[in-house]
Amino acid sequence: TVLVVDFGAQYAQLIARRIREAGVYSEIVPGDVPAEEIVARKPAAIVLSGGPSSVYAPGAPQVDPTLFEAGVPAFGICYGFQAMAQSLGGTVAHTGDREYGGTPLTVTTEGRLFGALPVEQNVWMSHGDAVSAAPPGFTVTATSTGAPVAAFEDVDRKLAGVQFHPEVRHTAHGQTVLEHFLFGIAGLEPTWTMANVVEEQVERIRAQVGEGRALCALSGGVDSAVAAALVQRAIGNRLTCVYVDHGLMREGETEQIERDFVAVTGVDLRVVDAREQFLGALAGVSDPEEKRKIIGREFIRVFEQAALDVVGDAKEHGDSVDFLVQGTLYPDVVESGGGSGTANIKSHHNVGGLPEDLQFTLVEPLRTLFKDEVREVGLQLGLPEAMVWRQPFPGPGLGIRIVGEVTQERLDILRKADAIVRAELTAAKLDREIWQCPVVLLADVRSVGVQGDGRTYGHPIVLRPVSSEDAMTADWTRLPYDVLARISTRITNEVPEVNRVTLDVTSKPPGTIEWE
Ligand code: XMP
Repeated sequence: TVLVVDFGAQYAQLIARRIREAGVYSEIVPGDVPAEEIVARKPAAIVLSGGPSSVYAPGAPQVDPTLFEAGVPAFGICYGFQAMAQSLGGTVAHTGDREYGGTPLTVTTEGRLFGALPVEQNVWMSHGDAVSAAPPGFTVTATSTGAPVAAFEDVDRKLAGVQFHPEVRHTAHGQTVLEHFLFGIAGLEPTWTMANVVEEQVERIRAQVGEGRALCALSGGVDSAVAAALVQRAIGNRLTCVYVDHGLMREGETEQIERDFVAVTGVDLRVVDAREQFLGALAGVSDPEEKRKIIGREFIRVFEQAALDVVGDAKEHGDSVDFLVQGTLYPDVVESGGGSGTANIKSHHNVGGLPEDLQFTLVEPLRTLFKDEVREVGLQLGLPEAMVWRQPFPGPGLGIRIVGEVTQERLDILRKADAIVRAELTAAKLDREIWQCPVVLLADVRSVGVQGDGRTYGHPIVLRPVSSEDAMTADWTRLPYDVLARISTRITNEVPEVNRVTLDVTSKPPGTIEWE
């Protein structure tokens, strides 16, 4: 394991992902974990991440030199580079100047880090102070205008560092530099593959569940699907999956689970048809928060009952269901403090409030994985591409994409329009460029149109394509005009109730991604 020491900036997760992309398993540890503790975990290498702009900033984390005395290979990045320099006896000049953005870098000495890479290359910088003298024993290998010492290495001690950010794509050869550290300096081997992950997790699940039984709620999303498929591979039909059909899914999604997912995995699936129950509960309601609450509440009710049924059935056969499968991902674990306790509380919330007399032990086979790794595991397990690459879709589904009351007729209209949008975006090969594209029906709005030689009085559809990294902020995606034109023509031709297609050109903030 390579440990990425997180000094607080947002780069640690990205660094950990890049290390894994190189084929080496990595985990994140908070920057305030004592050096002895880090060394005691016997990491294969340590990477010190970016962080505050200056080692002289009040409260800036320092690096304990004992970290470097245990002979563990270490790589400093940006702040981690400066902290490493300072800790080992180099000098960090408190310049107050800032170097930010794409910056030309000159390789001055051909060492291990840069190897045969071009002498002039572009890197991404974001720093205030600069290392002015490398610590004793280090060779300076690169320089930039704002960073006289922009990279250094001490191959004997397996230590190296760079001022720039190798983990961001704006750094032309960043991944190669990182790999040069991992393989050329630290001497590691690329053994982390998703095929290995599948094997390893299957064994772990078997060890954890033993002869027991498990339950899993499928949502249609990639995380729960991959988690369920892994557990099914490990314990077969001692896993029961429950899928609540609330009638608010998009076209083909329920069938995809009922048919494709089951066909591929052989999972024991119970589909609960609760469409009427949800529609009934939503009747007459148009307030967005109210809709969300109702959908959440009904979901819990239905799932709770289904869970009780599964447990009851097992009991009849003298068996018990003790485990609940959750698709918790590594970012959730990191963001909730990394401790198992905190993460459990959070993940439990994902299924909502199960009754207190239903006590389950969690099985979380994706706990160590990033989203892109989960997708790869899904492909390894043979899940359909459409499922594996599914874009985010809110739990309340189409219910919060109908502005106004949710009715069966309106759901049918929206489903048709949405299916057209998805088909056209897929045909234009835009799926992976777009974070997601909500399609919204303004059910209470009507406008006048003309079709053939008749007047129409129909509803507008709003397209909301967004680009985003994490859904916290987003920009509206500049879709090609010809794609927009095709979508508009098809929707107005094929969905009689819709006579206008509009495009939402609002970023987030101020607009949220969903309309409700
Ligand atoms: P907003 O609209 O807040 O959405 O910008 C951010 C991201 O969250 C998704 N979303 C939800 N996901 N349950 C979910 O599971 C919800 O109630 C919910 N509301 C919004 C939304 O699709 C976007 O990806």
